[in-house]
Amino acid sequence: MESPFNSNALRGKVALLTGGGSGIGFEISTQFGKHGASVAIMGRRRNALDGAVSALTSLGIPAVGFEGDVRKLEDAKRVVEATVRHFGKLDILVNAAAGNFLAAAEDLSPNGFKTVMDIDTVGTFTMCHEALKYLKKDGPGKTASTGGLILNISATLHYTAAWYQIHVSAAKAGIDALTRNLALEWGTDYDIRVNGIAPGPIGDTAGMSKLQPDEINNNTRESIPLYKLGEKWDIAMAAVYLASDAGKYINGSILPVDGGLWLSRPRYLAKDDVKKVSRSVEKRSRAAPTGIPTSKL
Ligand code: COA
Repeated sequence: MESPFNSNALRGKVALLTGGGSGIGFEISTQFGKHGASVAIMGRRRNALDGAVSALTSLGIPAVGFEGDVRKLEDAKRVVEATVRHFGKLDILVNAAAGNFLAAAEDLSPNGFKTVMDIDTVGTFTMCHEALKYLKKDGPGKTASTGGLILNISATLHYTAAWYQIHVSAAKAGIDALTRNLALEWGTDYDIRVNGIAPGPIGDTAGMSKLQPDEINNNTRESIPLYKLGEKWDIAMAAVYLASDAGKYINGSILPVDGGLWLSRPRYLAKDDVKKVSRSVEKRSRAAPTGIPTSKL
């Protein structure tokens, strides 16, 4: 689908994306590039990185891939520095790396819980921490008078609760807390905007195939009000919006991009019955006084 944004919306920006070589992260990399940004991607798998970088460069996007694991402080530091060495500066950090799997809480080992927290939450903090000095308003290579941007990808499942995803829910809730706290501290001190995007179920992603595998009966999905799959493009467009000048006054926001799914609940009364029931309840309550003396009302 064509982007509704101007192709120069991110001209001259340098972005580093964790998990930028596949899934949602790769689509954000691609759209950032198509809107004028240079893109560095960080990932654990060399093959995936190489494939992603050649796909980006074939579109004319300046791109480079750095191997690294967000769980390792030395990798985070090395990749942030390599990005600045390669492109001369850093304007945007996107934390899209994530790990997940389905597990009932009672069957999840503490190490399984910790692994997801380490990738998603601690990994996000580590990357932000290492990128700070470059994202600051007067950071190395910065020519603009404004600071950079951090975009954290979380989810909506922790807004309520999610079956078999206690680890993911805790990790994403932690990411949202990082987004708001860094927006407060670094927005105030360094003019860095820190925002989040909370995707719903997005088709053709590893997250989708892991958390809602084909084995799940499709009727289950159909019975959920507002359930529909989003596209990676939907998330990438939200990212372009937040990263562009259109988002210059947006700080500390976490934008759910899920078609309203997290608000879903079953309709307990048919719409046509609402008036009928409501009116008859009203009549009944007027006909049968509560017994409270009017002087006390
Ligand atoms: N169910 C229950 N526990 C699981 C599990 C599953 N499906 N998969 C892994 N674990 C547990 C392991 O048993 C281990 O705990 P233990 O030491 O107590 O046994 C712990 O998690 C770490 O597993 P390990 O395989 O060593 O971790 P890893 O670092 O190689 O992989 C994962 C990390 C598990 C998150 C892996 O799924 C991954 O690499 N994911 C990245 C890709 C991804 O998830 N993409 C989707 C993004 S939305």
